[in-house]
Amino acid sequence: MLDRPMAANPDLAPTHRRGPAKPNLLTVEDAKALDVKTMADLFKDYINPGQFHFMKLLGFHKVKVERAEGMYYIDQNGRKILDFFGGFGSLAFGHNHPRIIEARQRFQDERRHEIAIAFLSQYASALARNLAACSPGDLDMVFLGSSGSEAMEAAIKVAERASGRKNCKIVHAENSFHGKTKGVLSLTDSPLYQGEFKLVGNTCKVPFGDLEALTNAIRSDPEIGVVVLETVQGGGGIITASTDYWQGVRALCDKHNVLWVADEVQCGYGRTGRFYAFEHHGVVPDVTALAKSLGAGKAAVGAMIARREVYMKAYGTPKTAMIHAQATFGGIGEACVTAIEGLNVLYDDDLIGNSAEVGAYLLERLQAIQAKYPSIVKDVRGQGLMVGLEFHDFSRTLPMALRPMVAILDDKLKGSLSGFVGALLLRDHDVLVAFTEYNRNVIRLEPPLICDEGHVDQFCDALDALLGRGIVSIVKDFIRSQMG
Ligand SMILES: Cc1ncc(COP(=O)(O)O)c(C=O)c1O
Repeated sequence: MLDRPMAANPDLAPTHRRGPAKPNLLTVEDAKALDVKTMADLFKDYINPGQFHFMKLLGFHKVKVERAEGMYYIDQNGRKILDFFGGFGSLAFGHNHPRIIEARQRFQDERRHEIAIAFLSQYASALARNLAACSPGDLDMVFLGSSGSEAMEAAIKVAERASGRKNCKIVHAENSFHGKTKGVLSLTDSPLYQGEFKLVGNTCKVPFGDLEALTNAIRSDPEIGVVVLETVQGGGGIITASTDYWQGVRALCDKHNVLWVADEVQCGYGRTGRFYAFEHHGVVPDVTALAKSLGAGKAAVGAMIARREVYMKAYGTPKTAMIHAQATFGGIGEACVTAIEGLNVLYDDDLIGNSAEVGAYLLERLQAIQAKYPSIVKDVRGQGLMVGLEFHDFSRTLPMALRPMVAILDDKLKGSLSGFVGALLLRDHDVLVAFTEYNRNVIRLEPPLICDEGHVDQFCDALDALLGRGIVSIVKDFIRSQMG
């Protein structure tokens, strides 16, 4: 722990103080100036020692980011790291987009108000109206919060109330991820995240993309009132479903009076080349949710957007209006202004079109890499700038002699080439990619939507050079780095 004498302040000498003495607190400048080791020690001591273990395994613990601009992080040594992780789709505008910074700065300079509880907020009202303008059909009613989980909690609550069934059942998909707060955790298909918590009981699970299974579930159980699906499964490893499937989901829900909630927290906001991923399929859900890039990389903003009829059924009267009204930080001023400016930049700079075009180029280059290394790369897939790169199962590609060495490494990376590749891409090629909890052979690529073909070339050239070394060399190199 950092020990430092407190600066003396004559105005607050102990004899004049009315409250407790100031603890030994770090200042903002202290925080900025922490060296890598102290930063790591504080993380281990006060945040999450187990998580630090994994960061160390990957070599990520050696990086202290000093600045971030556009497509790049800049570390303590001035190294520029290309960001193809993009905060799992949270950085549509890259880091510190000048228009976003300027809007926030102006808001601060004008001393505008933040908390939107006592008075109506012009910023929250304008953001809600903009989200309705970006959303097809009558997806017009907006609940503002500060995370994807909060937006999805709001989504399942509004749908459950509007379903017209008491204690209705909610269907979700295998390999789904909808957040970690208790309600949506019950719809997140992960034994790891679900831990041993008591979950809400009214759920049932079907395979993703399987219309027959969903039809059978809904036909056989009249208590089912809500279906919750990511339009593209992110945590599952970038899994899409066919247009036939989505049109079938819409028709099925209409036929059985079931409400469809589309989770667009990761795949929405232009990521797949449309504002919402479901727009590729000519269908509109009853409720949807956005977060991540909605905060333009500078603020925590989540939104649930419901069809007017659905919202009014759930909360449309003075008696029901406050059941799920905004929380303390819902619609907070600077976050709303950030999101308003973000939506304007998204369209002014044609970033959705860019996502479709540059995403197609990325897929094309990755397909060429797959063709070059067919024994290493199993699949490349995705839409727009939401792309998955799947490696063959490690256990089938690694020579027998190396397996015991790999087995001494942590469980988290055992059998996963993506861990080794990600670690070496960062160490040797200054490129950051994301891993996938549910499928450890998949690297997720969700770069900012400002990405251009030059960035794609930088990433693909690095990947090509790394894979060109061959699996044995990659694994040996990684193991050596752990020993050293
Ligand atoms: C599809 C999906 N839904 C919900 C969430 C939860 O969002 P948050 O982490 O902001 O609570 C995530 C986060 O990764 C997500 O990918």
